[in-house]
Amino acid sequence: MAHDKNVVELTEAEARAELERLSEAIARANTAYHTHDAPEISDAEFDALKRRNAEIEARFRDLKRADSPSEQVGATPAQGFSKITHAVRMLSLSNAFDDQDVREFDESIRRYLGRDAALSYSAEPKIDGLSLSLRYENGNLVSAATRGDGETGENVTANAREIADIPQVLEGAPELLEVRGEVYMSHADFAALNARHEERGGKTFANPRNAAAGSLRQLDASITRDRPLRFFAYAWGAISEPLAETQMGAIERLRGLGFQVNPLTRLCHSPDDMIAHYREIEAQRATLGYDIDGVVYKVDDLGLQHRLGFRSTTPRWAIAHKFPAELAWTRLDGIDIQVGRTGALSPVARLAPVTVGGVVVSNATLHNEDYIAGFDSNGEEIRGGKDIRVGDWVQVYRAGDVIPKVADVDLSKRPEDAERYVFPHLCPECGSEAVREEGDAVRRCTGGMICPAQAVEKLKHFVSRKALDIDGLGAKQIEMFYGDEVLPIREPADIFTLQERDEGNLARLKNRDGWGDTSAANLFRAIEEKRDIPLARLIFGLGIRHVGEVAAADLARHYGEWGVMAQALDVARPAAVAEHAADSAAEAERIAAKREGRRAKIADAREAAMAGLEVPVAAQAAWNDLVGTDGIGPVMALSLSDAFANAEERRAIDTLVAHLTPIPPEERATDSPVAGKTVVFTGTLEKMTRAEAKARAEALGAKVSGSVSKKTDLVVAGPGAGSKAKKAVELGVEMIDEDGWLEMIEGL
Ligand code: IVH
Repeated sequence: MAHDKNVVELTEAEARAELERLSEAIARANTAYHTHDAPEISDAEFDALKRRNAEIEARFRDLKRADSPSEQVGATPAQGFSKITHAVRMLSLSNAFDDQDVREFDESIRRYLGRDAALSYSAEPKIDGLSLSLRYENGNLVSAATRGDGETGENVTANAREIADIPQVLEGAPELLEVRGEVYMSHADFAALNARHEERGGKTFANPRNAAAGSLRQLDASITRDRPLRFFAYAWGAISEPLAETQMGAIERLRGLGFQVNPLTRLCHSPDDMIAHYREIEAQRATLGYDIDGVVYKVDDLGLQHRLGFRSTTPRWAIAHKFPAELAWTRLDGIDIQVGRTGALSPVARLAPVTVGGVVVSNATLHNEDYIAGFDSNGEEIRGGKDIRVGDWVQVYRAGDVIPKVADVDLSKRPEDAERYVFPHLCPECGSEAVREEGDAVRRCTGGMICPAQAVEKLKHFVSRKALDIDGLGAKQIEMFYGDEVLPIREPADIFTLQERDEGNLARLKNRDGWGDTSAANLFRAIEEKRDIPLARLIFGLGIRHVGEVAAADLARHYGEWGVMAQALDVARPAAVAEHAADSAAEAERIAAKREGRRAKIADAREAAMAGLEVPVAAQAAWNDLVGTDGIGPVMALSLSDAFANAEERRAIDTLVAHLTPIPPEERATDSPVAGKTVVFTGTLEKMTRAEAKARAEALGAKVSGSVSKKTDLVVAGPGAGSKAKKAVELGVEMIDEDGWLEMIEGL
């Protein structure tokens, strides 16, 4: 068949047919991705289609279609939902995968609270739908928003009003009440909906969750009305007065107000109890009539929930105990290598399509080269040391939302001619050497910005939702502009010169297929709007390895201004170089010690390496300040320092920043009396543990330090406080006791 052939082997007739097939496949993928929010193929598959299309066009120039996909940007996204900023963030849950994780969850909570006595937890099914926040003012439903990125969601009020389980009016509710829960579709309704669509030749949904999401996110709410959606309430956001004193009480109250709450919700008094209830729910899973993917446990006492508070994206007081992944066996047809933003070469399994838990899977991750060869990251055997070969029968599993994985291989079905997979040592995208650093499981392309795959992935990251978030400039558009000869975007700075360059061109963007006056103007306006950019988003957007969203926010808070951070990194560089030398020496010592069968003297090796280098005092101080920043570890600090010291990367960063005005972060929780202050806890705390005290103080915007200095604003001293309290007196730092502290932060 033509689509199996190499481009050089195609006849003209075959090429014409192939271009038609590719144009349809790409259009279909675009619509699935942009309009229906339900991608049918992976990014890599999409890339491969585009690449093949471009190759054929290059060979048969005359056959290029008027509607060629190489001239188009993605389909118009479903625009039109306004945004709602959640009064209280919508969080996700951390996961437990086995009984031991559940016991550890309970232990860590009791440790945090400093409690020996048993705690009670609510346990309820984790509904596999999409979460929704309903805002009621004086008992009237005023708005409904999807979770979105947790801070801002889509305004789907009109759609929510069409869901029978959602009351429009509440009797006897608090003045302000945000009810949160899950929108889902039952198995029966899902099957009927798909059957209806199939009859009419329309698209069918892969699973009930996609169907629920697709049905709720309809610009035309009358479509939502025709789709049988349901809603379970399980939590709340902003609220003018407490619903109850316990989670169970609050759920009961929500039920009393007219919400559906899950009938399998129980109160448990120990981890054994919780696990028993989990087994009971698991046994009923197939007959519930709707999808659930685990059991959620929540500390029942709402006072304790408040004390436990939140990590950056998950509450400490709840956990989702997931059901084991679903499995299937299929044939491994090939292994492709994808190159990521940081140059990592990731092997992807191309599979004979197979249904796993209701979804057709044709790709899965193979992690890295050791995983394929049968070893884990410590060099220990996995799967009994069996390697994975093209042609093998492999076991595939999905766990929740994540990308499917290949778990096992069936040697009895291995074809005789199957060969051991040889992992490439050259980047398949740019041909640069791909190297594995000592102790790293991942092989990385060394091409940096010259590697088109890295450059494109970095650009996609830069414009992504949590970074610059430029409307109308998504992954697909980045790919189009990256390959564009007239108006290229090759590095982030190019985005901000796009309009100017477009104006200097004869062939204007607005005159291209797929673009018009409005779409071009909208894009330029969206770019303009992002010149003033919060510092944390800018740092995150740079896509530096190990520097994630949370670290970027920590750095922004710590340095406050871009220039301050850049300068600090420059000053600290000699210390970072010494740190690298020490790391290499430590690694060499570790390997030598292992070979010689003796204990490693890592600290000595580090010290010897450091001794040979002169690090200026200012450099050491700047380095210490960086790694002393809460949330910033040495690995992250080194990666950041390396990025800023790399000439090419630095040029790209500086050129970019010249186009921008980074906005310093707002002080967190400015209405709190401790915001921005440096606080030291010392001595014994009686009403809370140290961990709790620290987390609370940080949540209120304070910086918690371990030692008292002139920079300290407040010392909270319990009984037995020694040298730190003394030093506070010497330096004249304000000192209070635990009760004083609690009084100070009361009600916050
Ligand atoms: S509680 C602060 N309870 O799971 C945490 N979530 O993986 C509030 N979910 O975003 C969530 N069933 O969409 C909670 N019984 C349940 C749930 C549930 C489903 C979803 C929810 C959440 C996601 C986290």
